[in-house]
Amino acid sequence: MAEHILVAVAWPYANADIHVGNLVGAYLPADIYARYHRLAGNHVLMVSGSDSHGTPVTVRADAEGVTSQVVYERYHARFLELFQRVGLTYDLFTSTHTANHFRVAQDVFLTLQANGCLFRQTEPQWYAPAEGRFLPDRYVEGECYICHYPNARGDQCDNCGNLLDATQLIHPRAKASGVALELRDTEHFYLDLGKLAPALAAWLNEDKAHWRPQVLNPSRRQAESGELRGRAITRDLEWGIPVPVEGWDSKRLYVWFEAVIGYLSASIEWAQERAADPDAWKRWWYDPDAKTTYFIGKDNIPFHAVIWPAELLGVQRLYESDPARRLNLPYDVPANEFLNLEAQKISGSRNWAVWGLDFLDRYDPDPLRYYLTAVMPETRDAEWEWAGFLNHNNNELVATWGNLANRVLTFAYKHWDGHVPSPAGLRPQDEALLAQVEAGFARVGSLLAAVKLRAALGEALALATEANKYLDTQGPWFEVKQDKAEAARTVYTALKAIDSLKVLFAPFLPFSSEKLHLYLGYAGPLFGTQRVETYTDALGSHTALTYAAAGATGRWQPSDLPPGQALRQPAPLFKKLDDSIVAAERARLGQPS
Ligand code: MF3
Ligand code: ZN
Repeated sequence: MAEHILVAVAWPYANADIHVGNLVGAYLPADIYARYHRLAGNHVLMVSGSDSHGTPVTVRADAEGVTSQVVYERYHARFLELFQRVGLTYDLFTSTHTANHFRVAQDVFLTLQANGCLFRQTEPQWYAPAEGRFLPDRYVEGECYICHYPNARGDQCDNCGNLLDATQLIHPRAKASGVALELRDTEHFYLDLGKLAPALAAWLNEDKAHWRPQVLNPSRRQAESGELRGRAITRDLEWGIPVPVEGWDSKRLYVWFEAVIGYLSASIEWAQERAADPDAWKRWWYDPDAKTTYFIGKDNIPFHAVIWPAELLGVQRLYESDPARRLNLPYDVPANEFLNLEAQKISGSRNWAVWGLDFLDRYDPDPLRYYLTAVMPETRDAEWEWAGFLNHNNNELVATWGNLANRVLTFAYKHWDGHVPSPAGLRPQDEALLAQVEAGFARVGSLLAAVKLRAALGEALALATEANKYLDTQGPWFEVKQDKAEAARTVYTALKAIDSLKVLFAPFLPFSSEKLHLYLGYAGPLFGTQRVETYTDALGSHTALTYAAAGATGRWQPSDLPPGQALRQPAPLFKKLDDSIVAAERARLGQPS
């Protein structure tokens, strides 16, 4: 039975370019999982967008002397370009700056309020009299009240590393202008996490055996601690979503409160603008059998395993009159750990990073996807090393998988006049290889469904190694001279094996699997196509990345390659890289860009 799978992907802040750490943390694993489920014939909805509000964006805008809108639009456009080039098949990649998202976020706010899950509270906050406004913590600097470092930020001290309560800073000043600040009272809305905690804890104690312990344990602890209280969900800011309450014109919804609502609003936008049925989103959000899986980096865990579930528990009956219909809570939150780069933390500001777009100017997307999956930080932090990239590319992608496909295809093409041979019956050794590859579909498939992507890729590669061994043992290049019928059995078997391996590798290596699919003589593509759409709403004109599914699904099954099928002229799937790239690439790190 086909399942409904929501692939909910972290929303990148539209204030900086995307690097390999961001890709491996959330966006790439989400795409691999989505492509697998599409091949398996399930109904996938993969959504995300640019996180366009909040201080991360306004800080950048202030630094450049441009508006927040300009910053968000610039990075959003670059995200769309990168995601197309690296093959991330979002059904919809939109942004939080759309009329639809504003409406849904405000509706969630109002529903929470109506359900008694919000309260108001007045707290002191730093106010800049010269500027006539409250300053967010990130805009405040002063002396650390713990270690007395003179230049601590409002939210954190870079000297002692402690998270700070901005109101306790000594000699606080505005970071940008240096002017002195005063504390003034300001009123905000709070999400009543204390009230939602029992339901949250109960849910976190339901069948969660498939959750990663580093996600489940701290979330359970938080929910059960009895320490969850209110959390402010409004801010004194201009850029962002208005608070839908009379007299609150000078305040906005807190960026984290509304960004997570994007999973829901993007699903609604997809259904209303791009699907035949405007209620189609409900199959992922209200059908209790649907699975909603959230792909995020570890720094986002509390927001997805505690805050967002709390919002969902509190907004029951959103757009539904039947109280028995409850919005689905996350099925899984397979957060990844961090990726370091050549033994240091990735840092965008120091240019200690491998940027997605820059990488793709020199290399192909599949080697990137391959390497990132091979080192994916699923259980602990991992490392990008250029020497590792070179090794994985040359020794696995090229030597094991690419060469296997290439030697079988060129040999068949040459000796059987561009056609798949038609053997008269297979031998036990042929059947044995095919049985082994066939068993890979269940094994690799269940690893993919469990988001064990590294292991899944390892299994697929191991099968390619087996097929190479088979080919070396049979030696069709000798067989063909002595007995062409024997050679036909070997080549047919090997073609069938690579036809299956093409599918097993496809979630990871969509570009090369698509090519191989063509070389093997098939007509339609394996996957659908990505497209950038432009549309206009009350907030202005927008661009979004969309995905149009290919006709055929249910391709996650062993090859039944038709004997005699016409092949297409093959070409190598991957390129061997020269050792010299390692030094050249390392020399780029940390240089001013
Ligand atoms: N913009 C946040 C980040 O980059 C992630 C937000 S995920 C969301 O860390 F769902 F909250 F949008
Ligand atoms: Zn300090």
